[in-house]
Amino acid sequence: MEYRVDVRPLGAQLVSSSEEDLLTTFHSAGIGVESICGGIGSCAKCRIHILEGMTSDPTPQEEDQLSAEQLARGVRLACQVHPESDLSIYIPASSLTSEQKMQLDSELEVESPEPAVLSCELEVEIPTAPGDPGSDLYRVEKALRATAPEVEIRSVDLAGLRGISPLLREGKGKVSALVRGKELLGLAPAGSFPLGLAVDLGSTKVALFLYDLSRGILIASRGFLNPQVPYGEDIVTRIQHAVEGGASQLQELVVQGINDNLSVMLAEIDRDRSDIYEMVLVGNTAMHHLFLALPVEQLGKSPYLPATDIPQEVKARDLGIELSAAAVVYLPPPIAGYVGSDHLAAVAAARLWERPGPCLLLDIGTNTEVALQTDGHIRSCSCASGPAFEGGGLSQGMRAGDGAVEGVSIDPGSGKAQLTVVGGAPPVGICGSGILGTLAALAAAGIIDSSGRIREGRPGTERRDKELVYYLVPAGEESTTGVAVTQNDIREIQKAKGAIRAGIDALMAEAGLGNEDLREIILAGAFGTYIDPAAALSIALLPPVALDRIKQVGNAAGAGARSMLLSIAIRRQAEELASRLEYLELSAYPGLSTLFAASMYLSEDAVREAKSRFRI
Ligand code: FES
Repeated sequence: MEYRVDVRPLGAQLVSSSEEDLLTTFHSAGIGVESICGGIGSCAKCRIHILEGMTSDPTPQEEDQLSAEQLARGVRLACQVHPESDLSIYIPASSLTSEQKMQLDSELEVESPEPAVLSCELEVEIPTAPGDPGSDLYRVEKALRATAPEVEIRSVDLAGLRGISPLLREGKGKVSALVRGKELLGLAPAGSFPLGLAVDLGSTKVALFLYDLSRGILIASRGFLNPQVPYGEDIVTRIQHAVEGGASQLQELVVQGINDNLSVMLAEIDRDRSDIYEMVLVGNTAMHHLFLALPVEQLGKSPYLPATDIPQEVKARDLGIELSAAAVVYLPPPIAGYVGSDHLAAVAAARLWERPGPCLLLDIGTNTEVALQTDGHIRSCSCASGPAFEGGGLSQGMRAGDGAVEGVSIDPGSGKAQLTVVGGAPPVGICGSGILGTLAALAAAGIIDSSGRIREGRPGTERRDKELVYYLVPAGEESTTGVAVTQNDIREIQKAKGAIRAGIDALMAEAGLGNEDLREIILAGAFGTYIDPAAALSIALLPPVALDRIKQVGNAAGAGARSMLLSIAIRRQAEELASRLEYLELSAYPGLSTLFAASMYLSEDAVREAKSRFRI
C-alpha cells in the first residue's frame, strides 16, 4: 500500500509503501541520507524522527542502536522503518549528506527571471573606409535600438565605454551589450551570459550564491565565516571597534572575504569575475552600514537609529568589490537599527503577507528578528538573544562542526545521555541546537526543574568547582575531558530563549492576539533549520502550536537576496513592504523586563504561571 511522506526540513513530499524502507524512499528521491553500513542497521547514521503517523515496529537492530527513550520519542533508523500510514518525518542535519545540507540552502529558484541586467546580442557594422560619420558608441546604440527597441540608453558607464572600441573590433562587430535600466554597462564577447552574485552578510557567516542571470540558474555557492568575528562575536562589540577607529578595517575585511571566496568559486567553475555585472547584498543594519562605510555609532545608542532606510545602488568598484568594472551592488533598505535588510529578505522570501495569518517568522541568531503577520499587516521586532545559540558564552559551546553534540536524549532512570554528533566524530562540545535539545531532555528527565535549576543528586549530575554540572559524556569515556552542561550554560540558554519568547509575546500583545490565535510558525536561518521543533515547544521557546504548524525553511534571508538578484519585481515588492512594515522597539516596550523574566521558565505552564504572578 502506498503512503505520502512529508519530509522536513527539506519540504519534500514523497511516496513510499509498506514494502519499502524509508532510506530506499529517500535515496530513490535523490535525498542524500548517510548510510555508511549500507542499510543493515549497524551504523545508526540514518536516524530520523517520526513526527506523525504510524510505522512498522522497531527492529532488533533499532533496539540495539537506539535507547528505549529515543524510540519512545519517535527516533528511528530510516533503513529499518517502513510506513504504515501517511507520515511526517524530520531528518536531522547529522543524517544528511553534506551535498544535501548545501541543497537546503539552495532550493528556492525564481520561476521567471527578470534580472536588472539584460544581455542583448548585437551585430554592429564597423566602417573600414573614411566618410561614414558616427562614433563606435553611436553604432552600438543604433544596433541596440534595432534589436531591442524597448531599451533606451541614457548613460554609459565609463569603464564600459573604454572597452567598446577594442571589443567591437576583436569580435568583428559581433558582441553582447550589457544593459541595466537606462545605462549601458559595456560590451562583452558575443554569446557571453552575465553572472550575478547574491550575498547574505551575516554577523557570523557569509553566504555567496552565484547565478547565471539570463537563465536564473544557481551555478555555485559558498559559505565562510565572517572575517570580522575576531573583532567581536556580537554586533555591539563590533560597533564599538568601529567607533574606536576600526571601521575601515572591518569594511576591508568583509570586502576581502567576499573577493577571496569569490575567486575560489570562480576557479571551480572556470569563469571570470569580469562576467559578474550585478550583486545584491542583505544583512543586519550594522553589517549593511559597515559594508557601505556608513557611521555606526548611533546604532549602538538609544534610540538605535539607522543612517538610512532607503535602497542603495553603488558601483562595486567604489566599495572595493572586484566584479566587472561596471557592476552595481544593490542593497535593499534596512528597517531599523536592529532589523536589517536580511529580515526584509526573509519576510519577502517567505511571502509572509500572503500566508493565512496570524503567523510568525523567526530568524534565530545572535539577534533574532521576529515578524508577526496578521490580516496582511506585518509587525517586526529584534530580540537580543546573544551568541548562546551559536555556542558562544557556553563552557563547552562550539559551532555546529565535527564533534559538536547536536541531538540529545536522556534516560530518566540512569541519567545516561544518547547523543547525535555532527560528522559522527567523538563529542568535544555542544552546538546551539544541541544545547536546546539538552535543555529539553534534562527537563523531560526531571534533572532540571522548570526554573532551570539543576536538581542536586540526580543521576548524571555532580559538583565541579562548587558548580552543579550534568555530564553528557563523562570524562574518560568517548572524549577524554568529557562534555558537561553547567548551571551557567543553562542560564545563558534560558536568557537567549527568554529574549526571543518575550519578543514574540510583545508582538502578539501589540496585535491583540492570544496563543490560541496563532496558525503557523516559520523558523528560518541555520539554527532555525536544525533545531528540533518539539524541543523548542517543550521548553516554551515558541508559543504552543501543533507541531505540524511549524515550518523550517532554511536560509530565508539568503533566499530573499537570491530572489531579489533574479527579479526586479521582487525587489520592488520588498521595498514596498519595507515602507509599510511596523517596527516595535523592544527596549522601549513597557514591562519588558518582567515579560523576559517570565519567558525564561522552561515549560508553557510555568511561563503562564509566572506571567499571572507578575500580572502580565
Ligand atoms: S544505514 Fe546504517 S543504520 Fe541505517
